[in-house]
Amino acid sequence: MFSDIIKNGEYKNLVNGKWVESSSKELISISSPVDGSLVGKVQAMSMEEADIAIHGVKTSYRVWAEKSISERAAVLHKTADILEEYSKQIGKILAWEIAKEYGSAVTEVTRTAEFIRFTAEQGKRMQGETLYGDSFDEKAKNKISIVTREPLGVILAIAPFNYPVNLSASKIAPALMAGNGVLFKPPTQGAISALHLIRAFQMAGVPDGVINTVTGRGSIIGDYLITHKDVDMINFTGSTEVGKHIAKIAGMMPIIMELGGKDAAIVLEDVDLEDTAENIVKGAFSYSGQRCTAVKRVLVMDEIADSLVGKIKERVEKLKVGNPMDGATITPLIDDRAAEFVQELIDDAITKGAILILGNKREKNLLYPTVLDQVKIDMRIAWEEPFGPVLPVIRVKSIEEAISIANRSEYGLQSSVFTKNIDKAFYIARKLEVGTVQINNKTERGPDHFPFLGVKSSGMGTQGIKYSIEAMSRPKAIVINLK
Ligand code: NAP
Ligand code: G3P
Repeated sequence: MFSDIIKNGEYKNLVNGKWVESSSKELISISSPVDGSLVGKVQAMSMEEADIAIHGVKTSYRVWAEKSISERAAVLHKTADILEEYSKQIGKILAWEIAKEYGSAVTEVTRTAEFIRFTAEQGKRMQGETLYGDSFDEKAKNKISIVTREPLGVILAIAPFNYPVNLSASKIAPALMAGNGVLFKPPTQGAISALHLIRAFQMAGVPDGVINTVTGRGSIIGDYLITHKDVDMINFTGSTEVGKHIAKIAGMMPIIMELGGKDAAIVLEDVDLEDTAENIVKGAFSYSGQRCTAVKRVLVMDEIADSLVGKIKERVEKLKVGNPMDGATITPLIDDRAAEFVQELIDDAITKGAILILGNKREKNLLYPTVLDQVKIDMRIAWEEPFGPVLPVIRVKSIEEAISIANRSEYGLQSSVFTKNIDKAFYIARKLEVGTVQINNKTERGPDHFPFLGVKSSGMGTQGIKYSIEAMSRPKAIVINLK
């Protein structure tokens, strides 16, 4: 099944139906964040090879677009079957490559299969519309516009390290269902897991050239891909820093982006403390906080803050720390640079007077879960995205203060509001400048058919299965002029 994609520990790229090595012979070693062991090597593809891969998609996708929707859907269902069959094998690689707790890693693969199945069925329900001229102008009575949806062409899909299977498929599957071809640039740390996903698509029957891959460091090959004349649309998920850079150089290119976040959990005084603490801890510390939708700050009414912090502490103390194969929630961060950044934010906060409730312990790229209380708005952690296992608690005295601090963030991905008062919940939710507000639940992307979007520095455009298909297709109007 997967033997085609690897030779002597070196993973190849899929180009026009063949798994190929780079002629540059330049390889990138992928070491596990868990123990530094070698997971494998991936090709550092050259720009000339990227040209071949992109050209291959451009010349191949129309064959795919001309297949019936049900034929395309059948290939996606077969892909899902394969992922389900190999979910444990791919999950094990994921756990090793990005230090995601093994159970969560397997779930990432099975969730992806579910995503792909739903996409296949959603694609069958995509419809156009028919418009009559005289609904606008009596003189246009002889005109009928028949509007269908068309693929955009070559979709450049770029995914982040933290969901290298799911957030790759969340671009690729809807793109394929809309009749596009895909040039896929996986995250370098996560590329090995992602290439297994691509192999599953190929085994399921995606025709040669309809999905081609280009592995290589985004900082080296990224700009070339972004500005390539044969790319018709960019679907990017990653950091705000890279997203803003891409937006600057992409010119007229249609783009959809899911970027960073600083999701706030706003907690009012009437909450169920146990349930709220449970949600906040899961939201903040799953996969060591390396989720865009992680709870990255708590804005809690001062009068219940001590009680809530106590409940949070109780739960955080019980979090398992260590190896992802041993069921640990808190596992080593993706690399030393990430760990150093999180440590910087913790040190800054404590220096400026934040109260350490627990944590602030580090062993190389393994950071112990950290809760900081009495965080003030002059501290970096109040505003910056740690992407690590740290939770700042900011005490507020009113709903208006909570809304003001929440909206001052440059980010606008999601927020949670915890209260038993539905009127207050809706009042706050409608004031928050974010893509999604969760009422009495942790911030999270799923279910995957819901719209998922960020505003401000958290992105542009909307994903979520139906929305992604729409974003990677366009209307075409054919006007019949009756005599
Ligand atoms: P990243 O460093 O921005 O990388 C994301 C992807 O972009 C990777 O495939 C990367 O390749 C590639 N890339 C880097 N520089 C590029 C360039 N100049 N041109 C084109 N592509 C380039 O993000 P990450 O570290 O993988 O993920 C963590 C960040 O993503 C966090 O900020 C998180 O909030 C955000 N994120 C957001 C969402 C969401 O749905 N909103 C989901 C997940 C993650 P390399 O791997 O080779 O560098
Ligand atoms: O960071 C990945 C983002 O898509 C979060 O997904 O399902 O963990 O909320 P989820």
